[in-house]
Amino acid sequence: MVEVLEEAAGAPSPIRSSQPGAALRSGRSARSWKIEELFRRRDTDGMSEHNHHTEAVHDEGFWNERYRSSPHVWSGAPNPQLVAEIADLAPGRALDVGCGEGADAIWLARRGWGVVATDISRIALERGAQHARASDPVASARIDWLHADLMLRPPEPDSFDLVSAQFMHLTSEPRTRLFTALAAAVRAGGTLLVVGHHPSDLATGVPRPPMPDLFYSAGEVAGLLDDSWAVVVNEARPRPATTPEGIEVTIHDAVLLATRRSVTGSTS
Ligand SMILES: C[S@@+](CC[C@H](N)C(=O)[O-])C[C@H]1O[C@@H](n2cnc3c(N)ncnc32)[C@H](O)[C@@H]1O
Repeated sequence: MVEVLEEAAGAPSPIRSSQPGAALRSGRSARSWKIEELFRRRDTDGMSEHNHHTEAVHDEGFWNERYRSSPHVWSGAPNPQLVAEIADLAPGRALDVGCGEGADAIWLARRGWGVVATDISRIALERGAQHARASDPVASARIDWLHADLMLRPPEPDSFDLVSAQFMHLTSEPRTRLFTALAAAVRAGGTLLVVGHHPSDLATGVPRPPMPDLFYSAGEVAGLLDDSWAVVVNEARPRPATTPEGIEVTIHDAVLLATRRSVTGSTS
């Protein structure tokens, strides 16, 4: 079983997690941070006032059902744009936003990153934590698994060296608020990577929810960034896919990679 750390009796340096963000750890922690210092408390900035729409579309129940429907919803491999963009980056503290079954968090931890892997679904987190423990106990010890609805409990500003959001699809209004908060959570000199399904995928025949408002371009995300950012990648990146009918098509990932300038004005 994965340990749920709330008062964590007997743990070497207990993390106390206020609801709804209960931290799950899959091994002895290698980090010094406290989760409650990295995420805002509920209801402090009004984000939750606007959350009803998110809850109505894709809430925790929706995602738990999705994960219950199959023992492995995702491939188990890290996302290709994460690997392409982050492989050469020096490790620090990373936030994996909507980490799902944890493949990205494990990949980052294997490269030396300390990772806070967050998801609204406990089922996904428990899978990720168990997979990490079983496959790489050393990497596992670098990951905190945090159960949180990030619309209710966004990260604190200036808290992470890398914020990676892979295929986080919300409707436009909550998406704008969340991505704005994610950008603010990146420290000076740090990196924001947002990857999503491009709106053009809707015309390819690959399975996508018939809700155009869930999809976005990298340019839309870049438009949320002020001049403290240097946009490094802003593109619709093609990759091959196969439709359920067996037709080979090209789909596109919206890829936004940006670096927050250091206080002196240069990127680092
Ligand atoms: C499409 S999946 C992507 C999972 C993973 N990033 C990947 O690429 O394999 C989106 C994930 O975001 C999580 N999620 C959705 N809304 C969330 C929210 N408000 N707060 C935290 N996680 C959320 C879901 O539970 C799901 O695991």
